[in-house]
Amino acid sequence: MSLPLEGKVAVVTGASRGIGRTDALVLAAAGADVVVTDILIEDDERLEETSEKIGPVAQVMAYSKKVYTRSTAEEIKKMGRRSAAFRMDVTDKKEVHDVMAQIKEQFGRIDILVNNAGTLDHTARFEHQNDAFWERDLRVNLTGAYNCCQAVWPYMKEQRWGRIINMSSVAGTLGGFGQASYATTKAGLLGLTRTLALEGARYNITVNAIIPGIINTEAFQMTNPEMRERMIARTAFKRPGEPEDIAHAIAFLASDQAGYITGIGLPVAGGIDLFTF
Ligand SMILES: NC(=O)c1ccc[n+]([C@@H]2O[C@H](COP(=O)([O-])OP(=O)(O)OC[C@H]3O[C@@H](n4cnc5c(N)ncnc54)[C@H](O)[C@@H]3O)[C@@H](O)[C@H]2O)c1
Repeated sequence: MSLPLEGKVAVVTGASRGIGRTDALVLAAAGADVVVTDILIEDDERLEETSEKIGPVAQVMAYSKKVYTRSTAEEIKKMGRRSAAFRMDVTDKKEVHDVMAQIKEQFGRIDILVNNAGTLDHTARFEHQNDAFWERDLRVNLTGAYNCCQAVWPYMKEQRWGRIINMSSVAGTLGGFGQASYATTKAGLLGLTRTLALEGARYNITVNAIIPGIINTEAFQMTNPEMRERMIARTAFKRPGEPEDIAHAIAFLASDQAGYITGIGLPVAGGIDLFTF
């Protein structure tokens, strides 16, 4: 029996670690050829300089050598799939269009786009919202997804098949204390998702969002421990989700079997929005 994503080409953004890296591996295990992209690449001579521009989590990851963009692509090749790693800053429209064109040239098509790149490291009450982080969060989380969707849209339209999956957050649906900029971008992504779902249907392009709760990634582990405990206590399971929980939902939404599902925000949140006490 063939694997559900055999013959498909997927691009994952922000895949140097965490959820994005796991998405890439799970999509490959489901049969797809997967292109691993991130602004951080382990052998890039600009790595440390770039990480300083992004923010505190990126800096820690770069300096502690926890950047796995190229090694994830190598892992995928060992699984027998085609793969490649590309430096792609989602905020740089020209770079996004150039990289997507190179992927299309090299892999022949782009079927699946996972807009995962995101920034999760600015938490401050609204009166202390930092202007530079407000701009950065909008640029990476929202404009970044917009840039990537625009770049792949003509390819998906031409081949009359496409799957776009955007990473929202419960911060976008429920609000997030101290997360004004982040929550705003994650709510905005739901508007983009529904609008592109309406416009993409005629070309057989589905556009959906995942709404993760709290997921046990390196970025989550770097949050304040007391805050982390309070967040975990809000889930029905009393534990965070794992990156695989997100990746399996993405693999399903990317499959032919999910062809009639579009415009949804799928919570993968362990019941964080339920009335637990
Ligand atoms: N971990 C959670 O609890 C959680 C909850 C809800 C939503 N999410 C969302 O899931 C996604 C991944 O989360 P994570 O915990 O793995 O985060 P993470 O910080 O570990 O990963 C984010 C990735 O995005 C990359 N990135 C940052 N700026 C970029 C840019 N300009 N261009 C390209 N790549 C860039 C980073 O280098 C990193 O690899 C994010 O969109 C996040 O908002 C995560």
